[in-house]
Amino acid sequence: MKVLVIGSGGREHALAWKIAQSPKLQCVYVAPGNGGTASDSKMQNVPLSNVQDLKHWAIDNAIDLTVVGPEGPLSEGVVDVFRDAGLRIVGPTQAAAQLESSKAFSKAFMKRHRIPTAEFETFSDAALAHAHVDRVGAPIVVKADGLAAGKGVVVAQSLEEAHAAIDHMLSPDANVVVPTGGEARVVIETFLDGEEASFMVLCHGLSALPLATSQDHKRLLDADQGPNTGGMGAYSPAGVVTPAIHAKVMREIIAPTLKGMMVEGMPFTGFLYAGLMISPKGEVHTLEFNTRMGDPETQPMMLRLKSDWFEVLWAASAPAHAPHTLEHFPTLGMGHSDVMQSAHPLDDVELVWDRRVSLGVVMASHGYPHTPRYGDAIATLPAPSDTTQVFHAGTRREDEHWVTSGGRVLCVCALGESVQKAAQNAYELVDQIHFEGEQHRRDIGWRAKH
Ligand code: AMP
Ligand code: GLY
Repeated sequence: MKVLVIGSGGREHALAWKIAQSPKLQCVYVAPGNGGTASDSKMQNVPLSNVQDLKHWAIDNAIDLTVVGPEGPLSEGVVDVFRDAGLRIVGPTQAAAQLESSKAFSKAFMKRHRIPTAEFETFSDAALAHAHVDRVGAPIVVKADGLAAGKGVVVAQSLEEAHAAIDHMLSPDANVVVPTGGEARVVIETFLDGEEASFMVLCHGLSALPLATSQDHKRLLDADQGPNTGGMGAYSPAGVVTPAIHAKVMREIIAPTLKGMMVEGMPFTGFLYAGLMISPKGEVHTLEFNTRMGDPETQPMMLRLKSDWFEVLWAASAPAHAPHTLEHFPTLGMGHSDVMQSAHPLDDVELVWDRRVSLGVVMASHGYPHTPRYGDAIATLPAPSDTTQVFHAGTRREDEHWVTSGGRVLCVCALGESVQKAAQNAYELVDQIHFEGEQHRRDIGWRAKH
C-alpha cells in the first residue's frame, strides 16, 4: 500500500510515522513534508501543496489512501476533489469542514442542534460589536470568523483589549481567511472558566470512534502566561476527562453533531476534534470544533497507539455508499468483504493504546509565535527508542543536518508510568537538543501533576 499524507508539521510526521509501521505499507509520501519526513527510510517528501497538483500526483502514482493533516486543504475541498477522481481519502468534505473553517457556521450549528457552547453573537458591523462588548463587560472573548492559524481568538480581560481585538479583526490587514463569498465578521462570546481538553473522534457518517483524550498547552510561557501559540506541548490521556465526562461528551456533543451534519446534508467523515472547556462542577462546553487532528496532541497520541493505524484509516475512508463501491472505486481492488463492511466501517475497529502516559514538549524557534526566525542549525538529535520519539515540524534537511524552517520546530515525546515520569523522560531528551534562540516550556503536564 502507498499512502499520501498532506501537510508539513509535527502532526503529519507523527501520522506518517505511525502509518509506516503497518506491515502493509510500502511507502508513506508526505506533501510537502519536513526535515523529519525527508530523513525517515519509509517516507518520502513530495514538493506539492496545490490541491489539483496533489490529485494528479496521487493518480499518477497509484496512491491507495490519502490522509489530510491541516485545515487549509480541507477548507479548499481536497476531499471532494479526491473523491470525485475516485481516490480514497480521510477527511471531511468542504461543506463539512465549515465546522472549523467558519466560527459563525459552527456556532450557529451548535445552537441549532443544542450542543453546549458559550453564548455568542456575530457581527460584521464594528460599531454594533463595540456596543455589545460595552454592554456585556469583560472578561469576554472575541473571535475572527475564518481560519487564522490559531491567532484569531482574543480572550480579553479588559474592555480596551476587546475593543482593540474587534478593530483589528474587522480591518483589512487582519490575517484571516474569510469564508468564501463572505465579509469579515467577529464572533463575540461569553467567557467560560474551567480546564480545557482535546477530544477527538474518527467519524464515518453516524459512527464515531473515540481516540485517546489529550490536553494541549496553548500559551508560550510556563504557568500559561504569554501569547497564544499553535500549542507548546501536550499529553495523553487527559485525566480531566473522566469516564463520566467522556460519556457525556459522546452523548451531548459528538452524537448530536454527527446527526446534525447528516440531517443537514453534510455527512461527516474524518477527524472531528471538539475543544472542550470542563467546569469545576463537571459541566462541559464546546469551545470550538476542528475537522482534523490536533497539533501537537497527535504527536504524543501516536506514541501511545498500538493498533495498526493504516487499517483504521483505511476503514475510515470507506466510500459512503456500499452498493456503489465497486463501480466508483474500481482501481482499489477492494474485495467483497470490504464492501460488506463499509456500511458501518468503524463499528468493528477497536483501538489499543499503551496504558502509560505520553507527553510531548514543543521546541520552538527564536521569536515564535510573532516573528519566528528560520535557518538556525539543529545540533544532533537523540536516537529514537521504544519509549521516545522526536517528531519534526518546522525543520528542513540541509546536507546531513537539519535547520529550523518554522515556528514550532520539534515535538519531543516520551512515555512514562505517570505524567511526572513521562515529563521527566521527555525533558531528559529536550535537554540534549540545541539550536540558537530555542524556546520551550518547562511545565508541560502541570495541571495533571497537581
Ligand atoms: P478556539 O480557537 O476557539 O479554541 O480558542 C482558542 C483558545 O481561546 C481556547 O483554547 C481557549 O483557551 C480560549 N477560549 C476560547 N473561547 C473561550 C471562551 N468562551 N471562554 C474562555 N476561553 C476561551
Ligand atoms: N492543538 C490545537 C489545535 O490543533 O488546534
